[in-house]
Amino acid sequence: MSFAPETPCTRIPPTRLDTDTWVVHQVQHALGAPLSVYLNSMVIAGEEPAIVDTGSVNNRSQWLEDVFGIVDPADVRWVLLSHDDSDHTGNLAPVMEACPTATLVCSWPLVERFSNAFRFPLDRCRWLNDGDTLDIGDRRLMAVRPPVYDSPATRGFLDERSGIYWGVDAFATPSPGDPAPTVADLDPGFWAQGMAMFVHHALSPWVGLVDRARYAAEVDRVRAMGMTTIATAHSPLIEGRSVADAFDLLRDLPDVPVPPVPDQDALDHILQTAVTAGM
Ligand SMILES: [Fe+2]
Ligand SMILES: [Fe+2]
Repeated sequence: MSFAPETPCTRIPPTRLDTDTWVVHQVQHALGAPLSVYLNSMVIAGEEPAIVDTGSVNNRSQWLEDVFGIVDPADVRWVLLSHDDSDHTGNLAPVMEACPTATLVCSWPLVERFSNAFRFPLDRCRWLNDGDTLDIGDRRLMAVRPPVYDSPATRGFLDERSGIYWGVDAFATPSPGDPAPTVADLDPGFWAQGMAMFVHHALSPWVGLVDRARYAAEVDRVRAMGMTTIATAHSPLIEGRSVADAFDLLRDLPDVPVPPVPDQDALDHILQTAVTAGM
């Protein structure tokens, strides 16, 4: 039996957010439920083109085709990593090989945590911490850590010119059926439940332990930066009035009722369903 991961069966072309910013999509279907989840990354094809996160290994050929259909690898000046998880670093090596003039924007914790899987070209690296800024020619990016995250290396990136914020794993939610283009296409109750499920079981299970006032202040600190659009790895796009709703949901997360996490009974059910379906 091969343990190689399955190539995604659903393809969604990149979404253009403004004149030069694109979200590159990958879709993963949930186990045992009619749900799907995005595994997104982003490209800013401005004066100094930047790739933000590098997708997953199992989507490598499609991801490279999508990204290099937007920017020529010879022109890529920056590769920004939000953190060290496999769905954000899956194609880092081929990207750095294909983009010889790119600087890798990362951090000390990211290098410490990920050197077992990637030989960092330290002379091509730039370390960015929360609150630091990066000039990429026609705009400045600010590193803004979202209030919830699953790695201490996490840095989100706010494009100060466009107002687009790369929120990393925060705001993660599944979609019912095929993935919705924007959160405005989700039923509001489903959206709230989806965010609660993901944050408590798949992203930041410590969120129920936090000091409520300090957490709320952190949510408000990020919100006050005034992002107009939020693109994240695992959510439909958050645009317009949905940005305020998303921060409201984020603020409520420590105290929302938490759906049960699937257990062995759920796995047995998934296996039985697969047998019945002849898979
Ligand atoms: Fe992550
Ligand atoms: Fe992720």
